[in-house]
Amino acid sequence: MAADRDDLERVRQAVNLVELFEGVTTVRKVRGSFKALCPFHTEKTPSLSIDPARGLYHCFGCGVGGDVFTFVQETQGLSFVEALEMLAERSGVVIRRDPQAAQRRERRSRLVEAVAAAGRYYRDRLKSAGDAGHARSYVRGRKYGVDVVDRFELGYAPDRPDALISHLRGLGYKDTDILTAGLARRVRGGRLMDQMRGRLMFPIHNVRGDMVGFGGRLLRGEGPKYLNTPETPLYKKSELLYGLDKARSAISREELGVVVEGYTDVIAFHLADLPLAVATCGTALGEAHFDLLRRFSSRIVLAFDADAAGAGAAVRGDELRITSDLGLDLRVAVMPEGRDPADLVFEDKGDLLREAVDGSAPITEFRINRLLEQHNLGEREARTRAMREAAELIARHPDAAARYQHALYVAGRTHMSIDLVQAEIERYASTGRRSRSPAGRRADAQPAPTRPGASGRMDRSERDLLRHLMAGTAEHDRVRPELFEHDRAVSLARWLLAEGRHMEKGVPVPLDGLKDQAMSVMARRLAVMATPLLPFEDVMSHLEARAVGRRKDEILVILEGIDQKKDPEAYTQALAELIALQEGGH
Ligand code: UTP
Ligand code: MN
Repeated sequence: MAADRDDLERVRQAVNLVELFEGVTTVRKVRGSFKALCPFHTEKTPSLSIDPARGLYHCFGCGVGGDVFTFVQETQGLSFVEALEMLAERSGVVIRRDPQAAQRRERRSRLVEAVAAAGRYYRDRLKSAGDAGHARSYVRGRKYGVDVVDRFELGYAPDRPDALISHLRGLGYKDTDILTAGLARRVRGGRLMDQMRGRLMFPIHNVRGDMVGFGGRLLRGEGPKYLNTPETPLYKKSELLYGLDKARSAISREELGVVVEGYTDVIAFHLADLPLAVATCGTALGEAHFDLLRRFSSRIVLAFDADAAGAGAAVRGDELRITSDLGLDLRVAVMPEGRDPADLVFEDKGDLLREAVDGSAPITEFRINRLLEQHNLGEREARTRAMREAAELIARHPDAAARYQHALYVAGRTHMSIDLVQAEIERYASTGRRSRSPAGRRADAQPAPTRPGASGRMDRSERDLLRHLMAGTAEHDRVRPELFEHDRAVSLARWLLAEGRHMEKGVPVPLDGLKDQAMSVMARRLAVMATPLLPFEDVMSHLEARAVGRRKDEILVILEGIDQKKDPEAYTQALAELIALQEGGH
């Protein structure tokens, strides 16, 4: 940061966010809160909320949000330092400077410029260089017209050791920036060599649209088929999704994002008039990618070719755990005829892309069906094996009602009783799934009724208790994280309790220390929420009662599991707790 924290706070306090918004869009006051037409996407009814007290905004339509600084950065295309300076000047706050941070920002923008200059050079080569004829034929062979080349800024990296380096030096770029931007590397003898040579270039942008790196496809000769920019301060492959800068508004409009395997598939979706696709850049899909996507839509379809391994490999590790923690509706679409999206569009079968996406199945359903297909269900023992494997999969699903539905289905397909399937799921659950307590887990595995649980929609009282904690209107001593059930609410409550511990009552907790992205999106949504806040006491009594009810259920299950003769002490203790809870007035 170009100034210390106090300076930032003083600027933040001095600036009225509502006034800033009024400069670019229509703001209306609705029931004591402010609503605006979002300037970051096209809309007819206002879905952006502003919290002037806290200086935060969030758009429920497209997912953008932030504070006064990000607002100025985004709407005026300024860097953070420039936005800070502008706002400081406007509000008469004098800032102390942190020259190191200013330097870092300048360095970053030099890198962004260098990458953009490289992108322009490559594109120019593809369009007109004499040594790029074969690249142009390749592009034509893929049926990419000028519109695709322009829209995706495709380029050609000459097959010479330092064509780009000479070009950039000629424009005044320094070797150190060229190296740091990942455009060149140092070879024996200390000379620099172009990172990409003789390849078709697919520029990669971050979510804001800055070009930060490249994927390069080999056109002839030996070498890896695709080569990507190495990790740089701008290019972090675990946090980048190819095409997201172009797809983000369509994804939030349609509430649907599609993840495909690569650059050519993203382009194929655009060509089929479905600008919803993104792809990882030479790495598996990880949590940071889901964090990015969740800002725009919670419904995400993984669209891979018919090869079963593809769908499994794309989500590293235990995908069911990932869906629960990220609160996403994760689905799988199988591409027909064993083709990838690029092949289908090439064959003028773009319609099949929409059909495949519309026909997507929830990921657990998809995986269960795949698994059952692998067994010959006409054989009795194969049915037994299939049921066991399916149970293991189902046990990892976070939602009890959904587990029951999957269990019913598997019971039918494998000719088993529902009890048997449930028992098997339970066996895996007790070794696999994380849970707060053994008793909780048992209660959880029962079919119905199901409690709201750890991952679905948050209970209104939980939500409002978080809002009280954020606003400083909660009595800290009485709030315990155990009152919450929703996983992310528990984490946010812990954080707010720690942050707010030494703060005066009535003072809102500043949210900029919140580093976790998922939590900070959630906090921002809550901060700008217009729904009237339930009184603290009402919220507490609801949550306390719920916690007592839950504990009672747990104890009943514990009591069932204790052998009174073998362990009389544990039995008495559990019983005593139950009686105490009953007498608590419920
Ligand atoms: P393909 O292997 O289909 O690439 O992978 P392609 O360029 O279309 O090649 P051909 O013409 O079918 O043989 C599809 C996508 O997967 C990514 C790329 O983004 C590519 O667009 N990919 C593929 C890689 O990142 N690395 C690889 O080694 C292969
Ligand atoms: Mn291909």
